[in-house]
Amino acid sequence: MPDQATKVLVVFYSRDGAVEALAKAVAEGAREAGAEVRLRRAPDIVSESVMAKVPGWKERSERMIAEYGAPTTADADWADAILFGTPTRFGNVSAELKAYIDSLGGLWFQGKLNGKAAGVFVSTGGPHGGNESTATTMFVPLSHLGFVIVPNGYTHAKIHHGVGTPYGSSMVAGPTNNPPTSDDLEIARHQGKRTAQIGAALKPLRA
Ligand SMILES: Cc1cc2nc3c(=O)[nH]c(=O)nc-3n(C[C@H](O)[C@H](O)[C@H](O)COP(=O)(O)O)c2cc1C
Repeated sequence: MPDQATKVLVVFYSRDGAVEALAKAVAEGAREAGAEVRLRRAPDIVSESVMAKVPGWKERSERMIAEYGAPTTADADWADAILFGTPTRFGNVSAELKAYIDSLGGLWFQGKLNGKAAGVFVSTGGPHGGNESTATTMFVPLSHLGFVIVPNGYTHAKIHHGVGTPYGSSMVAGPTNNPPTSDDLEIARHQGKRTAQIGAALKPLRA
């Protein structure tokens, strides 16, 4: 991988696997654009007794942290573009991913995130359960941090037909935690590729 390759951080939280699947597709799209990608999963912040109430939560958490590693502020400093993925929690970002976003305060203070590209992707349980509110409310802290927010817009024909949202890729897992559809994954790959390309285009402006 040449040193000049665009660097993309895909950082997500997932408890049951839906956002993990979207994150892998987003990473794949960024790699298609020639980017070097780091895929990271934010750690859980609840106690073990809370995790024990959901069968398989602890095991999935351990597997994902072993597979992807936990995100650090050095990952964000390294990246030219960052894609943030979260399940909806009561119409908003998960506390686990927000804890990572909040940890970026030191980089914000030094202006180190200014002009980097950022995008968001989301999974909800229900079709009107808040994937759009989750995506758009994530734009608020990302604006404060200095990112150039890259929404999906209607840059892919399938977004016109209700796949994903103009704000970011999304999916509906339903009450039985269904995986993303092939259309959901196609939009996620598209988002990863496009955000990596825009991150690359912004690089000279940050120099
Ligand atoms: C505490 C909690 C709050 C949730 N709030 C919402 C919600 O407001 N709307 C919704 O549609 N789904 C909600 N969900 C469901 C998750 O967003 C959904 O299952 C998502 O696909 C999980 O992603 P994951 O498989 O990556 O963990 C909630 C789940 C939990 C555990």
